[in-house]
Amino acid sequence: MAEIICIIGTKGGSGKTTLSHLLCYGLHLQDRRGACVMTDEYRTPLRPEGRHYVMADARTPEARRKVIAKLRDLREWIGVLDGGANRTSIDLSLYEVADVVLLPFRDSAEDLRVVMHDMERYPRAWALPSQWPTNRWQQEAATRLLDTMPAPLRSRVLEPVYAVSSSKLLLQATPPESMPIPLNNAARAFSRQVLDLLARTQA
Ligand SMILES: Nc1ncnc2c1ncn2[C@@H]1O[C@H](COP(=O)(O)OP(=O)(O)OP(=O)(O)O)[C@@H](O)[C@H]1O
Ligand SMILES: [Mg+2]
Repeated sequence: MAEIICIIGTKGGSGKTTLSHLLCYGLHLQDRRGACVMTDEYRTPLRPEGRHYVMADARTPEARRKVIAKLRDLREWIGVLDGGANRTSIDLSLYEVADVVLLPFRDSAEDLRVVMHDMERYPRAWALPSQWPTNRWQQEAATRLLDTMPAPLRSRVLEPVYAVSSSKLLLQATPPESMPIPLNNAARAFSRQVLDLLARTQA
């Protein structure tokens, strides 16, 4: 049976779609098979051409049931469910089927407030700092912001995925044949972190 990751959360623009593709691409770099599953009815799924992972359209409840049933039949695959903003009931259904749940958030007080609320709602979920600053001064400010979280929530914050300008290549209609090194490094680091979490849930 495939393992399932879902990337959800209330806040729009937190990086859910980019991270879903980054994860599937990173899994490919580590010779793992990924399926990127679009569940957001306000977006059109990207075409599979030029990508090293499968794309699945699960924008309706019926399609979601079918795709999840199909994933359950597949061994050695990892399904990555890309959520949509402001959809509590759909997020809850994705949360229930996922082995690992990620809640991306950016370095703002508003994002932090929303993600803490989501963390209370989804007790198994991990908060994932997304598009995190690389500049030292901004990074220190972002860490200070994280340190304002109550300890039980702070301990559920993962290593950040840093801002990488080339990440937009992942969402192009046809991605380039080879990706820039910073993007490959980000994809490897992120997918390793997720594989470690999966291993922990199975231990
Ligand atoms: N690691 C990153 N580095 C730089 N830019 C990023 C990164 N991740 C996402 N972005 C940019 O942030 C914007 C929002 O990203 P994305 O569409 O993935 O968010 P989303 O959570 O899926 O949004 P929505 O809620 O609308 O579905 C995009 O312009 C994307 O290119
Ligand atoms: Mg999206």
